[in-house]
Amino acid sequence: MMTKKSKLSLPLCSVVAVLSLLLFGNAIAGNAGDGKKMNVDNSTFHCITDMTPVKHFYVDNLQGNLKETVAVAKSEKGGIYPTGSVVQLVPGEVMVKHGPGYNPATHDWEYVELDVSKDGSSIRKRGFVDVINRFGGNCFACHAKAKPEFDSVCETGHGCDAIPLTRPMIHAIQNSDPRCKLHQLTDEDMKALKQLEAFQRAAAAK
Ligand code: HEC
Repeated sequence: MMTKKSKLSLPLCSVVAVLSLLLFGNAIAGNAGDGKKMNVDNSTFHCITDMTPVKHFYVDNLQGNLKETVAVAKSEKGGIYPTGSVVQLVPGEVMVKHGPGYNPATHDWEYVELDVSKDGSSIRKRGFVDVINRFGGNCFACHAKAKPEFDSVCETGHGCDAIPLTRPMIHAIQNSDPRCKLHQLTDEDMKALKQLEAFQRAAAAK
């Protein structure tokens, strides 16, 4: 009985999912140009410092709606990031905003971990609630702690647990993105990178 029921309900579920995607997906796409799912592949990502700097991080918009993404990022009161927003603090971790309703649990944010080299970006992991970064932390679990008005963007003081990187370290990591043609490491960046190396050595020795 049970098996029969679950066998039946699964295809039904998929039919409903496909139908609602067709119906509502089109409705939304027709509305404000919000494709439900952003096309994201290795070629989506590039040199972090070529993106638009806001405060101490970088943003972009895959739908050309950079103005609204920047406005939300700049706002001290927060706001809902528009579809297509790309947000990065360090070269290897990205948040991409899909269309409204694409993934209600994460407020439509996809979490992406990249391997970056001078040859470009390669997606290491991607997903919504279940992406674990190379340091063993779940992206969503941390970012979900941001107060609702900040739309899962942590910065500082938005309610997330802190990460063990100082602002000079973050700046230095951004400026040593291997995908960027020009490296402009200041003396302060070099100092911060040395500190970071020492931290990493100490952590590895534990
Ligand atoms: C331990 C908690 C934690 C984990 C795990 C974590 N983050 Fe974050 N993340 C933060 C905090 C805190 C900041 C803000 C740091 C700052 O601004 O100094 C941040 C910043 C960011 C930013 C810049 C925008 C913002 O929220 O301030 C992006 C993008 C980002 N993280 C993506 C990711 C991705 C992708 C993953 C997983 C691959 C991940 N993070 C894992 C806590 C975390």
